[in-house]
Amino acid sequence: MDWTAKWIKPAMEMEEACPVFTKEWSTDKPIKEAKLFVTALGVYEAELNGKRVGDFIMAPGWTEYFERLQYQEYDVTELLQEQNVLTVTVGRGWYRGRIGTISRKQKKLRENPPGLLAELVLVYQDESEERIGTDTSWQSAQSRVRLSEIYDGETYDACYEPEEALPAVIFDGPWNTLIAQQGPKVIEQERIAAARIFTTPKGETVVDFGQEITGYVEITVRANAGEIVELSHAEVMDKEGNFYTENYRSAKAKYIYICRDGVQSYKPKLTFYGFRYIRIDQFPGGVTAAKPLNFTAIVVHSDMKRTGYFRSSNPLLNRLFDNVIWGQKGNFLDVPTDCPQRDERLGWLGDAQVFAKTACLNYDAEQFFTKWLADMAVDQSEDGNVGIIIPAAWYDPKPSAAWGDAATICPWEVYMTYGNPAILQAQFVCMRKWVDFITGYTTTPYLWTGGEHYGDWLGLDAPSGSYKGSSRDDFIASAFYAYSTSLVIKAGHVLGKDVSEYEALYEAIKKAFQEAYPVYETQTECVLAVHFRLAPDCQAAAKQLAEMVKRDGHLMTGFVGTPYLLHALSDFGYTELAYELLLREEYPSWLYSVTKGATTIWEHWDGIMENGDFWSSNMNSFNHYAYGAVADWLYTVAAGIKPVEEAPGYAKVRIAPTPDKRLGWLKVSFESRHGVIRSSWTKADGLWKYEIETPVEAVIVIAGKEHRVNAGRYTFYSEIK
Ligand code: BGC
Repeated sequence: MDWTAKWIKPAMEMEEACPVFTKEWSTDKPIKEAKLFVTALGVYEAELNGKRVGDFIMAPGWTEYFERLQYQEYDVTELLQEQNVLTVTVGRGWYRGRIGTISRKQKKLRENPPGLLAELVLVYQDESEERIGTDTSWQSAQSRVRLSEIYDGETYDACYEPEEALPAVIFDGPWNTLIAQQGPKVIEQERIAAARIFTTPKGETVVDFGQEITGYVEITVRANAGEIVELSHAEVMDKEGNFYTENYRSAKAKYIYICRDGVQSYKPKLTFYGFRYIRIDQFPGGVTAAKPLNFTAIVVHSDMKRTGYFRSSNPLLNRLFDNVIWGQKGNFLDVPTDCPQRDERLGWLGDAQVFAKTACLNYDAEQFFTKWLADMAVDQSEDGNVGIIIPAAWYDPKPSAAWGDAATICPWEVYMTYGNPAILQAQFVCMRKWVDFITGYTTTPYLWTGGEHYGDWLGLDAPSGSYKGSSRDDFIASAFYAYSTSLVIKAGHVLGKDVSEYEALYEAIKKAFQEAYPVYETQTECVLAVHFRLAPDCQAAAKQLAEMVKRDGHLMTGFVGTPYLLHALSDFGYTELAYELLLREEYPSWLYSVTKGATTIWEHWDGIMENGDFWSSNMNSFNHYAYGAVADWLYTVAAGIKPVEEAPGYAKVRIAPTPDKRLGWLKVSFESRHGVIRSSWTKADGLWKYEIETPVEAVIVIAGKEHRVNAGRYTFYSEIK
């Protein structure tokens, strides 16, 4: 885009309010085509002649703004008239909001004004062209959005009339960081009616939408000017049944709407909330006048095609799978976030790495990850460190094993799922540099020792008072060092690069690892040794894992061990035990949260304890997708749909379903780039009956026996053991 527009900012103090920029003009020549290009230092919403331009929510999206700022292009031909008014409101968004509390970079961003860059390119029917770009002919004023902040919410005054409108001021905004939209758009995806309104023991009026979502509430109300709708957001109710917001920490997550006369609707424009419940703090005519029809929850997330489906005879397991899907919807809002509600909502690398494979099966997430990984590449420091959050909004980069390894794991999972080497091409340098970083940073050659790590974050074997499971930091870090190196080698082979140096490094790490760690002390240590194939005898290590699980009676793993736990068991013959963990309903287990009414995946195994208490108010998100990584085992082991490394992207497939007697039936479908793959099993006449559909050549493995088949539908039977 060759801009003729200038960066503009408001001419007056904004205080808390968001500026609105306005341009009016008229044309009498017939229009052929009109395109609007826009970006902002914040988030913006544009209206042309009173109609919203496009459907992108929270545009221009979140990128590493120091290097990359997306602009959007909209076809506005249909919205044009003879007399035209274009308005653009700019909120703080990620650019100038509270989201950066610690990093120097983010603090610097907030020194910028609420800048706008917009250019309308008009092509008339006589082929002549005119451009209307932001400049001093645009007016600036305070808008009716009196406050908008990602953590704190939005205040809108429908009666507000600005005292003054002044010509906008040109300033020296960013030019060389501008890029065209790269990720999928974030749009409104679903509307959910209020399920019920009830009164809590404390006397609060609360609306339940029946599902935890990320987005906002649309209100429709008849009111007199000046009456107020005030809403608070919450994920859960406390033990006594009262509205609970402590776990949002400093995020106010408020929604205040000051009404005009008559019937009106409003939904926040420039922020989002993570919630299932809203409390009605004020309402025209009193809070008891509020009716379910006054409220609709709107689900907002990155636009991705749904590709994975799961159903079984177990309703709790089905709900768990749905919770995984909702976890992804709630946390794929332009960047993969840890959670959508409290004062974080950040692109934590550990969480993203853990969930990447599941995410790619549930939805087509190639474009989503491509954009975010490009931010990682530009955020990577000279020495190769990628830090722990991307965009690096919170902390100045500091490394942690299993977090930084998102640099290798995410591109690899995207490649394996979709088969397109472009992601490896784009990220290879970043992947390689991450491994080089470890090599330069460690205090012991061929292991990663030293440094501070999150370890097996939230592992149940954490010493009291700590968030970190008791698996050894150096053990985890060294295991991931090996794994990341192995992925650099694989990626190098795909791209035809010489990776002999990394092959030698890998062998040296593996040898050093085996010498340094002859003994595994925790479930997670066993899991990593087995899953990364670092143990000299994986069968024996898996046996040790199985024994530990039986001894402990349940899983003890945190962020690092949990995603691979069932795989480590089932890969070495302990599938029954893996199912036992999967189907367990008592604490701690995946289904425990489901029995407690969860509609998304919890951050903690015991977010709500058996006695109804919260485990803590500080770190207790009810929408953290990490443990939802278990869905990958449902696709690839329970239904058995596995990608083949030699034919990535499911160009060829291995389908090895593993039924379990405790389930009557199970059904999975995954829409690969080569077509839909289906795998199901059910009990029929005392046998397992398998129905399998493959769009490509496949090896189907039934009860240990391999069948080579072409594309088609197949039925098999095996004994129930
Ligand atoms: C986030 C995590 C993240 C962690 C780092 C938390 O506050 O919510 O999910 O990975 O910090 O250990």
